[in-house]
Amino acid sequence: VRRGRPEALPFAPIGPVATTVDDVTVPAGYRWDAILRWGDPILPGAPAFDATRQTPEAQAGQFGYNNDYLDIIETSRSGTSALLVCNHEYTNENIMFPPGTPAETVIRTVWAAHGMSVVELTRRKRGDAWTYVPGARLNRRITLDTPFAVDGPAAGSDLLKTAADPTGRTVRGTMNNCSGGTTPWGTVLSGEENFNQYFRATGTDRTESRYGLAANQDSRNWRSIDPRWDATTADYRNEPNRFGWVVEVDPTDPTSTPVKHTAMGRFKHEGANVIINDDGHVVAYMGDDERFDYLYRFVSRDTFRPGNSRKARAHNLGLLSAGDLSVARLTGDGAEDGVNDGTGQWIPLTRDGQSVVPGFSTEEVLVYTRLAADVVQPTKMDRPEDVQPSLHNGRIYVACTNNTARTALQVDEANPRPANKDGHVVELVPDGGDHRRDTFTWNLFLICGDEASAGRYFGGWTGPVSPISCPDNVAFDSEGNLWVSTDGQPSAIKKSDGLFKVPVEGAERGHVQQFLAVPSGAETCGPVVHDRDGSVFVAVQHPGEDGSWAAPQSRFPDFVPAGSTASAGQFAGPRPTVVQVTRR
Ligand code: FEO
Ligand code: CA
Ligand code: CA
Ligand code: CA
Repeated sequence: VRRGRPEALPFAPIGPVATTVDDVTVPAGYRWDAILRWGDPILPGAPAFDATRQTPEAQAGQFGYNNDYLDIIETSRSGTSALLVCNHEYTNENIMFPPGTPAETVIRTVWAAHGMSVVELTRRKRGDAWTYVPGARLNRRITLDTPFAVDGPAAGSDLLKTAADPTGRTVRGTMNNCSGGTTPWGTVLSGEENFNQYFRATGTDRTESRYGLAANQDSRNWRSIDPRWDATTADYRNEPNRFGWVVEVDPTDPTSTPVKHTAMGRFKHEGANVIINDDGHVVAYMGDDERFDYLYRFVSRDTFRPGNSRKARAHNLGLLSAGDLSVARLTGDGAEDGVNDGTGQWIPLTRDGQSVVPGFSTEEVLVYTRLAADVVQPTKMDRPEDVQPSLHNGRIYVACTNNTARTALQVDEANPRPANKDGHVVELVPDGGDHRRDTFTWNLFLICGDEASAGRYFGGWTGPVSPISCPDNVAFDSEGNLWVSTDGQPSAIKKSDGLFKVPVEGAERGHVQQFLAVPSGAETCGPVVHDRDGSVFVAVQHPGEDGSWAAPQSRFPDFVPAGSTASAGQFAGPRPTVVQVTRR
């Protein structure tokens, strides 16, 4: 608690929750409510959800599947209206459709269940739970059919052309959108992550295999309905190159064309988070979520213009279209000091918008970013997920979720554990507080896991902590405390995934405290912490994902009793859901 203000969101940490608890668990004095569930009608005319006869047309007007990135953006001073913006990363066909559903219905429906949603929220007064407004003016679904504009230096490149788009400038849809970030100019960024799994490719070329594109992995068989998913053909050889970008959406204009930013590089983007540097340039930090992949930084060529004038807005919408990309190398200063820490360097991939990587054109650096980065030998990280700068202390927090493939010969001071099943959180400190400077220092803020495995390494805190494993998404509250959500605790430490608060400053730096746990089989996404408003939001992703239609492993959030019939708009199986936690 700082500046004498009362703590906005006081809570007694919950204990670790067994994976069999099929519910959202919150601290005493708090309650949870579902705001939006898979299938809830959003657009005008969309039908009520009926999982027994779901159609592509219905799904295109309804909330999508597997909500991941989430923001709740207040749009009125009174705090009674807001926009919910959310990603839909992937689909769990095994629990979405009754047995016998025709393959084409399944495929076309899940195309519409991917992408993003923008939904208006309302409430009577601050502190109340939000409800969504069906059919509201700004409500929008973005799916695998929504046209995206490609911008930046690789727009129009031969590497992006296909039979359906000989211009290389328009892509149909976005997919595998994982985490993201909301920009200071009010747009939402979203990372296209594991796009490779939906394509058949030859996989013989490094430009494919380095991205996990292979011959036998498109088990969803989308190419049976649309040839663009078959990259073994000359017509669609480049279709996979049109995914793996950071996309930008303006949630305040449902008619706007969302953009794919080639200047920010192509990899398995977890997300992107922007900070305005003191000199006005905007800096985005990004993780490539794969074992042994890298941490990236984008610095805009132009500077941010404050204000809400149409001119300022148009200018700011172009900030991520031109700039420079660099990749991180972290060097340890040795174990003798008993701390995992050292210095770091941003190694340029482009400078003044041009490639500085030997053997790579600018287009190649941006489209085959992983291959270009390999040349300059960055640090191979343990799956960098969310990477977010704190607006309170200017430091950057990197969630490295886990990497069980790292061997004892491959450890370094920044990724110190072989067979790392629990992950860690790195803290970067830009030299001089300048996010454009190419040097920084770093330390491991958290080494996660139970006490035995983590060695009680929690940012210097030596008191008790909540056990935490597999950090994935991060957020900050109004006091600058870090909130970490997890994805993987059930296998790593045999507990449900959850949400944890951890101070990064002061006497309690490193004191990890669990706020919430998610239902069986789910990972915790979002999160959004509006502590001054008494609210915490999470996106509960893939509850009960290993079950089947006939034998659900979760009944969240409708909890229709086994054997009884779901009433209209309900479902006996699990539904990915955005949840709001408020004080009672
Ligand atoms: Fe979709 Fe990296 O988690
Ligand atoms: Ca050290
Ligand atoms: Ca993630
Ligand atoms: Ca994850």
